[in-house]
Amino acid sequence: MNNKVLVTGGTGYIGSHSVVELINAGYEPIIVDNLCNSKIQVLDRIEKITGKRPTFYKIDCTNEEEFEKVFVNEKFDSVIHFAGLKAVGESVIKPLEYYQNNVGSALVLLKLMKKYNVKNIIFSSSATVYGDPISVPVYENAEIKHATNPYGETKIIIERIIEDFVKANPSFKGILLRYANPIGAHKSGLIGEEPIGIPNNLMPYITQVAIGKLDHLNVFGNDYNTIDGTGVRDYIHVVDLAKGHVSALKKFKEDITCVAYNLGTGRGTSVLELVHAFEKANNIKIPYVITKRRFGDIAINYLSAEKALKELNWKANLTIEDCCRDSWNFQVNNKDGIK
Ligand code: NAD
Ligand code: WQD
Repeated sequence: MNNKVLVTGGTGYIGSHSVVELINAGYEPIIVDNLCNSKIQVLDRIEKITGKRPTFYKIDCTNEEEFEKVFVNEKFDSVIHFAGLKAVGESVIKPLEYYQNNVGSALVLLKLMKKYNVKNIIFSSSATVYGDPISVPVYENAEIKHATNPYGETKIIIERIIEDFVKANPSFKGILLRYANPIGAHKSGLIGEEPIGIPNNLMPYITQVAIGKLDHLNVFGNDYNTIDGTGVRDYIHVVDLAKGHVSALKKFKEDITCVAYNLGTGRGTSVLELVHAFEKANNIKIPYVITKRRFGDIAINYLSAEKALKELNWKANLTIEDCCRDSWNFQVNNKDGIK
């Protein structure tokens, strides 16, 4: 086992935070990213935080000929596969692009892993595979039905592909990490979430209201059967999430096949609870208007974190207040984005 790890999508939001934690843990990440939803300047930020500049290849993971060069040039034992398109709404409008990009890149990656005998893969999956859960917290053995959108469907399909691949190649190992809702940013304020255009997700929308880029927050419905009628989610600090990947890598030393873990906090927070936590943590007022529900939204989703604690010795430690403070710090330090 050497300490090199291939990180696809490594200049993205979760990928960049994971690269920082991998370097902190003594690994040598090799990033492959086509920069369709991130910037090359993230490498400068990673270097500023860690003192090390990761090897970087600007490659589309669906391009087998180009991607194979990385397997020829570099020697690594494990892959963390973050690369993918992730906008739920966009996936409804452009399903073929999502299937081609997300499923296509996974198929190319697994083919190259088999050819070059790279045996360990960690896959970025999502709580969205659980659809609208029957009960919460959601456990890993919950029935995986259909997702409510093509994006979520790509996650279900890729999980199944990895399961089948590992069954057919018993010396290979797969870990499926099902993320809750990552928010927050590295405490330096040098890396964080930078959505292109109007944010779909709640926290970046809040920070753009706070900084004056957007006028007010639209709260999508307050008639759900929840504590205050607004949607409840499991918000996890992205640095906790990143550390979960370092913990998962260690699992490859054990005799496993293909195993799923939730990376969540085990707790739910409503939209208005998050808004008020943000206001308190940063002493800022967030104007909001209650509007109708967003199509496709579910009322409540939060994940059991028991299995990851027991088997990965990992749990989320940072609080909602930490998330709010760090998200705001990144926004304030990057008013016009990462340059
Ligand atoms: P992101 O868009 O910030 O990062 C994804 C990265 O992958 C980007 O840098 C993008 O340029 C790159 N990429 C996309 N397609 C590629 C391709 N074909 N070849 C090479 N690079 C490609 O998104 P993120 O929030 O960091 O999410 C990372 C992963 O985690 C994604 O797979 C996403 O589906 C999953 N996930 C995200 C969330 C979330 O709420 N952010 C929740 C659950 C799961
Ligand atoms: C959170 C809550 C909204 C914006 C999505 C994807 C999921 C994963 C994480 C990739 C909900 C409410 C939001 C706003 C609002 N991504 N909201 N006003 O929908 O739980 O999950 O991102 O894997 O797959 O589905 O996250 O941040 O969009 O919404 O009221 O402007 O905030 O209704 O209750 P979501 P979100």
